[in-house]
Amino acid sequence: MAFQDFDQITERRKTENARKFKKRILIAVVAVILLIGIIVGAIFIVNKLKTHEATKKDSKPASPPPKRPDSDNNSTDDKPSTSSKLVEQMCGSTDYKDKCKEVFSKKKDPISKPREVIKAIISGASDEAKSAFSKASEVSFDKEEEKKAFEDCKTLFDDAKEELEQSVYQVGNTTSSGKMRIGLLNSWLSAVISYGQTCIDGFPDGDGKSKITKTLEATKELTSNSLAMISLLSEVPGSKSSSGSSRRLLAQDKNGFPSWLTYDERRVLKKNDEMPTPNVTVAKDGSGNYQSISQALSAMPEKYEGRYIIYVKEGVYNESVTVTKKMPNVTIYGDGSQKSIITGNKNSADGVKMFQTASFVALGEGLIAKSMGFRNTAGRDKQQAVAARVLADRAVFLNCRFEGYQSTLFVQAHRQFYKSSVVSGTIDFIFGDAAAIFQNCLIYIRKPQENHSNTVTAQGRTDKRETTGIVLHKCQILPEKEFESEKSQFKSYLGRPWKEYSRTIVMESTIEDVIDQQGWYEMDGDFGKKTLFYGEYNNNGDSSKTDNRVTWPGFKVLNKDEAMQFTVGPFLKGNAWLKNNNGVPVRFGLFDN
Ligand SMILES: *[C@@H]1O[C@H](CO)[C@@H](O)[C@H](O)[C@H]1NC(C)=O
Ligand SMILES: *[C@@H]1O[C@H](CO)[C@@H](O)[C@H](O)[C@H]1NC(C)=O
Ligand SMILES: *[C@@H]1O[C@H](CO)[C@@H](O)[C@H](O)[C@H]1NC(C)=O
Ligand SMILES: *[C@@H]1O[C@H](CO)[C@@H](O)[C@H](O)[C@H]1NC(C)=O
Ligand SMILES: *[C@@H]1O[C@H](CO)[C@@H](O)[C@H](O)[C@H]1NC(C)=O
Repeated sequence: MAFQDFDQITERRKTENARKFKKRILIAVVAVILLIGIIVGAIFIVNKLKTHEATKKDSKPASPPPKRPDSDNNSTDDKPSTSSKLVEQMCGSTDYKDKCKEVFSKKKDPISKPREVIKAIISGASDEAKSAFSKASEVSFDKEEEKKAFEDCKTLFDDAKEELEQSVYQVGNTTSSGKMRIGLLNSWLSAVISYGQTCIDGFPDGDGKSKITKTLEATKELTSNSLAMISLLSEVPGSKSSSGSSRRLLAQDKNGFPSWLTYDERRVLKKNDEMPTPNVTVAKDGSGNYQSISQALSAMPEKYEGRYIIYVKEGVYNESVTVTKKMPNVTIYGDGSQKSIITGNKNSADGVKMFQTASFVALGEGLIAKSMGFRNTAGRDKQQAVAARVLADRAVFLNCRFEGYQSTLFVQAHRQFYKSSVVSGTIDFIFGDAAAIFQNCLIYIRKPQENHSNTVTAQGRTDKRETTGIVLHKCQILPEKEFESEKSQFKSYLGRPWKEYSRTIVMESTIEDVIDQQGWYEMDGDFGKKTLFYGEYNNNGDSSKTDNRVTWPGFKVLNKDEAMQFTVGPFLKGNAWLKNNNGVPVRFGLFDN
C-alpha cells in the first residue's frame, strides 16, 4: 500500500478533476454540507491513489482509470446521480472493479456516503462467504486428505463469516462525525483473506484445491475491495502529517514509557512484584489450583470483566494449550521463559497438518503472555513443527521464548506485538499473515538439516491490500551458540516469499554475519519477486550492508519516513491498544530519532 508506484496521471489533471467534481457537489444540497466534506475528502484521495499499483497486477491487465462522467461534456439529461458517481469513484480505487460494481447494480437505495459504500461492499463479501460455504459443503471431495482439509476449513469459514459480520456492524454503527475504527477493520478484513488462503493451503494439489480456490474467489475479491476503500479514508502514508503524528507519539513514549533496551530477562523477572495477583495458579506439584494449564483455561467463567490472570509456576507442561476465541483478555504469566514452559512435539513429518502442530494456540483477543516459554521439540528433521500459533488480535508477548526448528512461530493473522522475546529456529521460523512487530527481540538461527538453508521469515500476504507484514525492529539476528562454529557451512537468509505479496521489514536491528550478504532468498524461481515488499532501514552488524542484496524489484532500502510507517504507532495502530496496556513497554516510533 505505502510505497508502490503511482500511475502517470499528472498532478495537474488530478487536481483539475478533483476541482470539477467538487464544484458539482457544491451545487447540490446545502443541507448535507458535512457529508460533502467527507465525500470530497475521499475523492481527493481516490484521485491520488486510485490507479496506484494497478500496473502490478499480473492476473489481470491494469485497467485504465475510470472515466469520470463530468469530464464528458456531452452528458446532458442522463446525468448520473451523486450516489452512483461516488460508487464509481470508490470502485475505481479497487483492484476488482467489476466485482465492485456488481454489488451496486443490484442495489436500489441511494447511497450518499463513503461509509455506506464500504458497508455495502463488506456486506457483499459477507454474503459471498456464506454462499461459498454452502457451495463448498455440497462439493463431494474424492480424497480422504481433501475431506480432512475441508474439516479445517469449516472453522476458518466460521471465523471469516464472523469477522465480516463484525465489520459490517462496525461500519454501520459509526456516527457520521465519528471515525471508523480503521485499525480494527483492517485487522479483521486482512484476517478474512488469510483464513481463505489457509483453507486453500490445507488441500493437496489437485481438483479439490482448484474447486475450493474458485469458490472462495468472490469473497476474497470483495474483501480486498473493502480494504482498498478503507485505505482511502485513512492517512496517506508518508505524508508530512503522518510523520508529524509519529513524532508526537515519540514524545509521549519518552514521557510515558521507558524505552527498554535490555535483553536481560533476569532484571525484569526479579521484579516479580510487577506481576499482578492471579485469578488462578497452575502448578505441576499440586500447590496451585490446577496442575495443567488447559484445566485452568477450561475452568474460566464464561463471562467476566477485565483480565483473567493465570499464573503458571515453574515446570514443563507437556500439553496442547488453546486459548479459545471465547477466552478474551487472558493474561498468562510464568516464572521465566526457561522455567514455565509449554511444550509438545507434533509435526508434519509424522502426518499432522502444520495447522495442527502447535503446542500453544492463541485465538482469544487481547491475550498477554509474559515470561513464558513455548516449545516444539520434534527436532530439525521433522519438517514443520509449530511451537506457537497466534491468531489473537491485539496479542502481546513479553519476555517470552519460542523454541523450535522449522516453522517455530506462526503469526497467523491480526495484530501482534512481541517485546524482548526470543525466537529460535531454522526454516521459515517466523511465518504467517499477521501484522506482527518484534521489538528488542533476539532471533536465534539454529543448525538446519544437512544441505538445507535457513530463512528467518516467510511472510504470507496474498493480496496487496492486506495490512499485514512481519517487522523486526531493534532486534538482533544471530546464530545460537551451538551453531556458531558451523554457521559458515550453511546459508541463512532474512526471509523468502511464502506468498505473492510477502512483506517483511528489518529495521534498526543488528544483522550478524550468519546472514548471507544477499539477504533474502527465493521461494520458487521468480515467484513474488516483483510483488513482495522487503525493506531494510538503518541496520548494523556484519551483514547489514545492502550493497550485495538481491536486486528484485520488491526489495527496497527504506528512508526514514517509510520506516516510520512500520513502527507500532502507524502499523499496528498501537496507540489505540498498546498504550497503558498492563505495563507492557512499547516504543511507538523509531528508536534513533
Ligand atoms: C448498530 O447497533 C445496534 C445495537 O447497538 C444494532 O441493533 C444495529 O443493528 C446496528 N446497526 C448496524 C447497521 O449494524
Ligand atoms: C480476577 O481477579 C480480579 C482481582 O484480582 C477480580 O477483580 C476479578 O473479578 C477476577 N476475575 C474472575 C473472572 O474471577
Ligand atoms: C509429551 O507427550 C507426548 C505424547 O503425549 C510424548 O510423545 C512426548 O515424549 C512428551 N514429551 C515430553 C518432553 O515429555
Ligand atoms: C477486553 O479488554 C478490552 C480493554 O480493556 C475491552 O475493551 C474489551 O471489551 C474486552 N473484551 C472482552 C470480550 O471482554
Ligand atoms: C548433501 O549434498 C551432498 C552433495 O551434493 C550429497 O553428497 C549428500 O548426499 C547430501 N546429503 C543429504 C542428507 O541429502
